[in-house]
Amino acid sequence: MTDSQRPLVVVLFGGTSGEHQISCATAGGVLASINEEVWQTFAVGISPEGLWVPMPNDPSAYALSDSGGYTVEAGDLRVAILPGTKTLIQYEVDEAGAMIVATVTTIGEIDVVFPLLHGPFGEDGTLQGLLEMSGIRYVGCGVASSAVCQDKYLTKTVLGAAGIDVGEWTTFTRVDWQGDAASCRERIGQLGYPVFVKPTRAGSSLGISKVDGPSELDAAVEEAMSHDPRVIVEAASPGREVECGVLGTADGSLTASAIGEIRVLTEEFYDYESKYFDPNAVALDCPADLPEGVARRIQETALVAFEAVEGEGISRIDFFYNEETGRLILNEINTLPGFTPASLYPTMFGAVGITYPQLVHALIEEAAARPEGLR
Ligand SMILES: Nc1ncnc2c1ncn2[C@@H]1O[C@H](COP(=O)(O)OP(=O)(O)O)[C@@H](O)[C@H]1O
Ligand SMILES: [Mg+2]
Repeated sequence: MTDSQRPLVVVLFGGTSGEHQISCATAGGVLASINEEVWQTFAVGISPEGLWVPMPNDPSAYALSDSGGYTVEAGDLRVAILPGTKTLIQYEVDEAGAMIVATVTTIGEIDVVFPLLHGPFGEDGTLQGLLEMSGIRYVGCGVASSAVCQDKYLTKTVLGAAGIDVGEWTTFTRVDWQGDAASCRERIGQLGYPVFVKPTRAGSSLGISKVDGPSELDAAVEEAMSHDPRVIVEAASPGREVECGVLGTADGSLTASAIGEIRVLTEEFYDYESKYFDPNAVALDCPADLPEGVARRIQETALVAFEAVEGEGISRIDFFYNEETGRLILNEINTLPGFTPASLYPTMFGAVGITYPQLVHALIEEAAARPEGLR
């Protein structure tokens, strides 16, 4: 079905996480930017229930609009990667969803998968593991770095060991909380209020509360535990919220972007509401208004952190910078940051002269150049 001249890039998007529609919008941007003379693309959507379906390559379908975003719907066509091979097949299913074997056709041998899935089962190492098992190259971070960065507890443990300031924090599980809440409370008290209570593995600010005193703690812990049985509690970091993109290219070099700053205007912090529903709640400045030395320090720390987690290809690294004390605290690493043409990551690279199509091309080239097996 595909010609063998150009490498086959599978653009994989949608997915079962809450960020399905954002992922589709990203796919629109990426599909519009891939140079079809160099690569041949095949779009694969994952429906909200987790079914893999062939999708049109036309990028215009996937944009976010006022009426919401695009949702992948599973009709009677499916695609699959044959386990242990790079072969992408397509087939029809009957009304019960069972494969009609006579309809199976081979689409081609996959050269690179470009995963555009945010959150669990996309950004957390699970998809990366599936692809590794078949020896398929893919854009972005590998299994371990994806899994570590999706988990705020593991991120802080690894980066703290690498000498990066990750602030003051403590963690406990539902079992710890039920068994000995007093010692959990004591550890939290030692951080000093206010604190931020978070699920260790979520995203989009889901389940996160700012807690001003002990009386608000129980509700915040319950809320975080409704997303994840492990909770992390952090001392509030006073300061500016600044971010830096990292790009790893095929020649083995790493490039840091310009620094972006998020200024939260109406909400108390950059919560779910301000991220997705209230465009007036935040201002994004790029490049951020920072002395050159501070910007350089943020870039250098971002590169050290990316290497400490063994990042590959792409990540956006988020910090708090306190102007009064000069303290720079690393908050988190996003291994698949927002990547629509309007997102902060491409904007921060635009500010150092790297365009969105150049980013897309560089990321695919970096993936295509990877050796197979353990890296
Ligand atoms: N320790 C902290 N001090 C101050 N603000 C924080 C702290 N942790 C989180 N926040 C605020 O909450 C937002 C979401 O937290 P974050 O850890 O980035 O979660 P997510 O992974 O959901 O993006 C941040 O962008 C910031 O505005
Ligand atoms: Mg964040």
